[in-house]
Amino acid sequence: MNTVTIHSPGTVANLVCGFDILGLALHEPCDIMKLTLIDEPRVVIHNRDAYYLPTDPLKNVAGVVLLAIMEQEQNRFGFELEIEKHIKPGSGIGSSAASAAGAAVAANHLLGKRYSTDEMVQFAMLGEKLASGVKHADNIAPCILGGVSLIRSIHPLDIVSVPAPDLYVTVVHPQIEVRTSDARQILKQQVLLKDAIRQWGNIAGLVTGLMKGDYDLIGRSLEDVLIEPVRSILIPGFDEVKRNCKEAGALGGGISGSGPSVFMLSKEEHTARAVEAEMKAIYDRIGIDYHTYVTTVNKEGCTIVNG
Ligand code: HSE
Repeated sequence: MNTVTIHSPGTVANLVCGFDILGLALHEPCDIMKLTLIDEPRVVIHNRDAYYLPTDPLKNVAGVVLLAIMEQEQNRFGFELEIEKHIKPGSGIGSSAASAAGAAVAANHLLGKRYSTDEMVQFAMLGEKLASGVKHADNIAPCILGGVSLIRSIHPLDIVSVPAPDLYVTVVHPQIEVRTSDARQILKQQVLLKDAIRQWGNIAGLVTGLMKGDYDLIGRSLEDVLIEPVRSILIPGFDEVKRNCKEAGALGGGISGSGPSVFMLSKEEHTARAVEAEMKAIYDRIGIDYHTYVTTVNKEGCTIVNG
């Protein structure tokens, strides 16, 4: 078996209050990648979409992951990768993580699953480092594992899967690009103790709410006093989206990853659809193109579909 096809899902990182430490996987959107083992020790990349991402493996988030795996395997072989991206780069829905994690999981499958989940996460974080300048796993971990992930620590890697009740996720992607590296650079490096206390109360509340299936607690805990006040200025209509969606019945939500996408969690599908209608109305009025998704939490993560 020399070829494998994988579906690699979009993800929502941070989950509002858990900057760099919480994330969940979505059913939609989802990238499709086909990876083949080749005899020569090189990485060849073909884009099967219209995003014109670099095909030089050193400049491609999946490419750097495959180069690292190739090197780990003493350059005994190489990889040829076809990528059909459905997660738009710079959307805030884990586009770079889907490419990096999908490459790691597909390569591991072709190599007889010799690497552990933590090792795949380590390989995939090389892609995040290339994309944003910093290693973080809050998109990578849920992309690989599915469901909700808590990244308790990066050094050493300590990833915990958090059980979650059924949730609908509505995402609006206003068609502007926010580079993760830029959205990280504008953040303050220091926080006030009173803000930190509020934030870790929310993180603990969110994780407890998810584990207990306590939707009210989930909703109360979806509050971010550290990152959102700084980043939300990059997203036109953000405050109105949040206010109107909550009035429409969403539990809560906020910036997806580093934006510009905004996500909202709902208990019921009809609420998630009403939330989508609010999002559409706001961006129609502002006059910014957008794309919306109404989806659910993907409990499987990266999935091999053939091979
Ligand atoms: N935790 C990351 C951030 C996710 O917010 O910058 C984006 O990749």
